[in-house]
Amino acid sequence: MIKVGVSGAAGRMGDAVCEAVGAAEDTELAGRADPALGVELGEILDGADVVVDFTTPETALDNARACLEAGVHAVVGTTGFDLDQLRAAAESSDGGANCFVAPNFAIGAVLMMEVSQAIAAHMPECEIVELHHDRKLDAPSGTAKRTAELIGAAGGNVHEPIHSVRLPGLVAHQEVIFGGEGQTLSLRHDSIDRRSFMPGVLLAVREVGNLPDRFTVGLEKLL
Ligand SMILES: NC(=O)c1ccc[n+]([C@@H]2O[C@H](COP(=O)([O-])OP(=O)(O)OC[C@H]3O[C@@H](n4cnc5c(N)ncnc54)[C@H](O)[C@@H]3O)[C@@H](O)[C@H]2O)c1
Repeated sequence: MIKVGVSGAAGRMGDAVCEAVGAAEDTELAGRADPALGVELGEILDGADVVVDFTTPETALDNARACLEAGVHAVVGTTGFDLDQLRAAAESSDGGANCFVAPNFAIGAVLMMEVSQAIAAHMPECEIVELHHDRKLDAPSGTAKRTAELIGAAGGNVHEPIHSVRLPGLVAHQEVIFGGEGQTLSLRHDSIDRRSFMPGVLLAVREVGNLPDRFTVGLEKLL
């Protein structure tokens, strides 16, 4: 059994992770940390092999550092903070633990990013529209920034700005629209329930300890 601590356990994503970890046959919930529950991350590290963090842009870096220093693998889903600082922390950590980050744990969103790169080689001009619930703290989304990065690396030209829509009723959605001479091509992914992220989170929990590098970004690396 993999013992999993959840950081941000009282939040929308953290709550769904606790449920998924409890339901899977090879994982067990080792602790739920969240100021809303009166439990500090430091209190659950002793009993955990892996901690999954879905918190806030302000706290995710310190949380991941605390895990790595304690020799606990970190799976980070929080978006909107500087990944270069986290990479540096993970690569200089001597606790023997790995850090895995995914801006999006939904397989459909990862496939949208993969296909976008293939399209960009033939139709480079594109725009990204991302749509999320109105309590999301960061804009543009981590998924949109990562998609733009990957399309750019594949030779595409993502027009600025990335468009961010925030409305009640939405969960997490993204459209990539490519335009060429006399034609457009649109890709759209919709997470209509937070359960869409859970198979990816569980895959990361199972694989983070086997990764060859201290720091890895992107669910595609595990597929
Ligand atoms: N990677 C993905 O696939 C994915 C998917 C959805 C959301 N997200 C990201 O996950 C994050 C959380 O989203 P949410 O909708 O669950 O937010 P939320 O506001 O519902 O939950 C965040 C929780 O973190 C807690 N928290 C704050 N500081 C903390 C600390 N120091 N230690 C532990 N817990 C702390 C808060 O009390 C809250 O309960 C956001 O950054 C969001 O963008 C990522």
